[in-house]
Amino acid sequence: MSNVYPICRPRRLRRSDSLRAIFQETEVRIDDLVLPIFVEENVSDYMPVSVMPGVMRIPESRLAFEIERCAKTGIKSVMTFGISHHMDEVGSDTWNENGLVARMAQICKHTVPEMIVMSDTCFCEYTTHGHCGVVHDYSVDNDATLVNFGRQAVVAASAGADFISPSAAMDGQVQAIRTALDDAGFYETAIMAYSTKFASAFYGPFREAGGTALKGNRKTYQMNPMNRREAIRESLLDEQEGADVLMVKPAGAFLDTIRDIREATHLPLAAYQVSGEYAMIKFAAAAGAIDEQQIVRETLGAIKRAGADIIISYFALDIAEQGF
Ligand code: PBG
Repeated sequence: MSNVYPICRPRRLRRSDSLRAIFQETEVRIDDLVLPIFVEENVSDYMPVSVMPGVMRIPESRLAFEIERCAKTGIKSVMTFGISHHMDEVGSDTWNENGLVARMAQICKHTVPEMIVMSDTCFCEYTTHGHCGVVHDYSVDNDATLVNFGRQAVVAASAGADFISPSAAMDGQVQAIRTALDDAGFYETAIMAYSTKFASAFYGPFREAGGTALKGNRKTYQMNPMNRREAIRESLLDEQEGADVLMVKPAGAFLDTIRDIREATHLPLAAYQVSGEYAMIKFAAAAGAIDEQQIVRETLGAIKRAGADIIISYFALDIAEQGF
């Protein structure tokens, strides 16, 4: 009686830590990560975001301190979100030269000039109705919103933002921003477009973190999560309009889309591990169901493996502080 031997034995390369390390195909580096931060004006205290354990709204008066702290841990890039006390129908504070969008960029760049500042460019946190643009007849007016996009982009760029990151999912937003920036002489200011942005329930916790007033939903401007071809088309349109970096958002449930877009373009690709993805990991870990650090490694690793070059993640600071 003879034994049967497998011809191939992949286990040979998994026998030790060293073997596993040298044959690892994908790596996530601190340099790949962007930390989103929430900054609130006119308050003196930090405010914990109950649905995102570990995340705080930073009072504007502490922003300089926090940016310095981030820089010391090795964080190279932040994405700024403002919690406004100056909301109106159109979100005009976003294009006020002394408004919160401008001040966040100024404070970050003044404190740590080498920090890459990505200015989330939208209106929903600055409008009384919480929609991402100008509302006419119960619907968001695309082209009226584009004009305001240009204004906000120029104000953010002149305040020092390195990247304008439009997230309102309006048609033509990248072109409108590129034109406005170039007309104002901001040729070096880059655009990281939220180019494939799904209308996703994974943004749930962000609504509390960002203090948005929205009652309805964003399905007339953000994409149907069930659409694969449209997801590729949306990103390719933003490439044609002059985006420097594309993005898929959310990340974890859309790894196939990340791969599709990676193969359809040569532009750098970002992916946003959003508030709901963060919250699910945090709450499951707090309940003792999963190992947080390993799950973070796996989820971020999967996002890179799918084809993302950079990842926007609320875990960025933990990783920078504690290692990966
Ligand atoms: C603004 C914006 C949102 C997020 C980033 N920019 C909210 C939304 O589109 O509803 C979500 C980020 C997250 O959930 O972590 N438009």
